[in-house]
Amino acid sequence: MTKTGLFLTFEGIDGSGKSTQARMLADQLRLQGHEVVLTREPGGSPGAEEIRRLVLEGDPDRWSAETELLLFTAARRDHLERTIEPALAAGKVVICDRFADSTRMYQGLSRGDLRSLVDQLHNLMIGREPDMTLLIDMDPETGLSRAKGRQGTEERFEDFGPDLQKKMRAGFLALADEFSDRFRVVDGNRDVDSVAQDVTDIVQAALR
Ligand SMILES: Nc1ncnc2c1ncn2[C@@H]1O[C@H](COP(=O)(O)OP(=O)(O)O)[C@@H](O)[C@H]1O
Ligand SMILES: [Mg+2]
Repeated sequence: MTKTGLFLTFEGIDGSGKSTQARMLADQLRLQGHEVVLTREPGGSPGAEEIRRLVLEGDPDRWSAETELLLFTAARRDHLERTIEPALAAGKVVICDRFADSTRMYQGLSRGDLRSLVDQLHNLMIGREPDMTLLIDMDPETGLSRAKGRQGTEERFEDFGPDLQKKMRAGFLALADEFSDRFRVVDGNRDVDSVAQDVTDIVQAALR
């Protein structure tokens, strides 16, 4: 008998609480005895983490939109081959902080209208969707101020401002409609524990 794991992703605008919720969910599932791989994109494998530095650091104009899309796709392919698929084949729960939906949004929407190119590359090189995607929906202004509270060198995408955050929020909600079979929308405008409770309820139902 082949084991099949569960592939969960978190999506949402910057500062919506994805990383916080992904960590809390991983801790909780581990306490229940599940084998969990907590990972993130871009990155999640040694090769993809190297590509992460190329796409998240440096001059905002460092790459054309098309080159950037190729780099994200290369990183995702490596992450899938080396980290995600082996874990799922071993029956583990994979929790990934951002995945292809973020590329549909950020590369597909924000830098020219590349969505059809994003979809073509995805079909060619990735060809896999998560079993379930938790969209943390959030007021863009709050998200931006939360995100700005963090310090770091990965700021190539962080100066997009409130207009882009608004567009991205709407875009994620549209994706949730487009892929309504796997998306679950969680209201992120609440305290950490209330959001985590909703996430837990949704995932426990999926594990049953
Ligand atoms: N529900 C919440 N209420 C208040 N602050 C939060 C909440 N969730 C996360 N934060 C804080 O907001 C910041 C951004 O959260 P993070 O999980 O890093 O968001 P993301 O990964 O979506 O960008 C962090 O400093 C985090 O501690
Ligand atoms: Mg994060």
